[in-house]
Amino acid sequence: MAQQDTVEPTRRDFLYIATGAVGAVGAGALVWPFIDQMNPDASALALASIEVDVSAVEEGQSITVKWRGKPVFIRHRTAEEVEEAKSVALDDLPDQLARNSNLPADATATDEHRAAPEKEPWLVMVGICTHLGCVPLGQQGDFGGWFCPCHGSHYDTAGRIRKGPAPENLLVPPYEFTADQTITIG
Ligand code: FES
Repeated sequence: MAQQDTVEPTRRDFLYIATGAVGAVGAGALVWPFIDQMNPDASALALASIEVDVSAVEEGQSITVKWRGKPVFIRHRTAEEVEEAKSVALDDLPDQLARNSNLPADATATDEHRAAPEKEPWLVMVGICTHLGCVPLGQQGDFGGWFCPCHGSHYDTAGRIRKGPAPENLLVPPYEFTADQTITIG
């Protein structure tokens, strides 16, 4: 019986849900297949790439997964969020670079260069504020994207810094959709 007591906190710690309407049941469904893969050599596998089943993440919902010790936000944006992001002129962006690991370093921060290729509602970003490293809160702030409460940085619905001390857009990690509903990060 002592064994059962020690397993549960570890699983809970491993992946956590950020925001939105992904409830406990949905979270469990997402977590279990992933955790099963991680049992034997969890630390080694966590350093490499991870596969995330996003089939349960509906429009308007987000999850946060842990990759190489960092939180990664995966958001299934609403049509309104996409339109909002697309309507912003590059000149209005404090950081006009895409900061997308999958693109050349000089790619501009258009929504097309921030969102998943061929799947524009999807946004995948390292959830670490580019100011001093806090974890921003989703769907908050003046631009409807993410808000970092540490010193007041506002990111838009494409994860681009719009106001506050953060110097750069949230980083898009190396990732791809390796199946219609599966994202491989790393
Ligand atoms: S760490 Fe986010 S605003 Fe300072």
